[in-house]
Amino acid sequence: MEFPKYRPRRLRRNERLRDMVRETSLSPTNLIYPLFVGPGKDKVQPVSSMPGVAQLSVDRTAKECREVSSLGIPAVILFGIPERKDPLGSEAYSDSGVVQMAIREIKEKVPGLLVITDVCLCEYTDHGHCGVVKNGDVDNDSTLELLAKEALSHAKAGADIVAPSDMMDGRVGAIRKILDQNGFQQVAIMAYAAKYASAFYGPFREAAESTPQFGDRRSYQMDPGNADEALREAEMDIREGADIVMVKPAMAYLDIVYRVKQKFGYPVAAYNVSGEYSMIKAAGQNGWIDEKRIMMEVLFSIKRAGADMILTYFAKEVARGLRGQ
Ligand code: PBG
Repeated sequence: MEFPKYRPRRLRRNERLRDMVRETSLSPTNLIYPLFVGPGKDKVQPVSSMPGVAQLSVDRTAKECREVSSLGIPAVILFGIPERKDPLGSEAYSDSGVVQMAIREIKEKVPGLLVITDVCLCEYTDHGHCGVVKNGDVDNDSTLELLAKEALSHAKAGADIVAPSDMMDGRVGAIRKILDQNGFQQVAIMAYAAKYASAFYGPFREAAESTPQFGDRRSYQMDPGNADEALREAEMDIREGADIVMVKPAMAYLDIVYRVKQKFGYPVAAYNVSGEYSMIKAAGQNGWIDEKRIMMEVLFSIKRAGADMILTYFAKEVARGLRGQ
């Protein structure tokens, strides 16, 4: 590898050569598109801090899924915004909840699409925390029961994969147990294994109306300064039965994506979260950056770090781009 025998530029001369030697590939099959399901009929409520993203009623969600599927994207992840919120988030585990209805509708209208559901209580509780609040903090063990009930009701409605995002200790085991007891051995768990207490979730909380009414999520989500702890979290989740482990956010945590992939060799998902999306959109709208190129560069970097799949609000645009549309 010495100049002038080796000239790296030889293989960069044109598009054909560059395509041929590219080490990382990105395909629509690596993408998962997040959707916000709300109440009502024929409703599309744009999220102001996330251009191109909207809260959709169940019928509109199914329609959107048709388009997602036609772009070659294999899966969506559903977040529910219920009509009513209460201290225990009871709409989360109601068989007639918005997510449960959306799953049934999608399975009927777009049977080929994989449906993943976010399992958490923050969108359903009136205080906006991810579990049962006792003495001013989220109580771990009583929350586990509710999360298990929520996951089971998603499985009953037809979900292919459940994705707990609450960060309670022991929730993967609790969910695996209740699913198996009820004959859902084939429903997979994608665990938000290393989920950080991040300001990058800001725009999502507008979309999901899930901003905590007091305090923050730092007593259950991970501290951004920690990396070894992320490996322990991933190991715990794998031992408890996670099929896929997720790192979230993605861009600022690529070292975690890399280490989790290297250490466990499990399928790794990375969540390119709302703030990452909004920053690129905002700078793009200002004409400060080339939005499309930055989008592709970021997604390639996540894939290159070791993610097998990426949850991203850019999924449809990327899929169109990759198909040359
Ligand atoms: C719910 C949940 C959140 C996100 C996914 N699931 C928000 C949070 O933890 O506050 C964030 C997704 C995003 O920002 O795109 N617990």
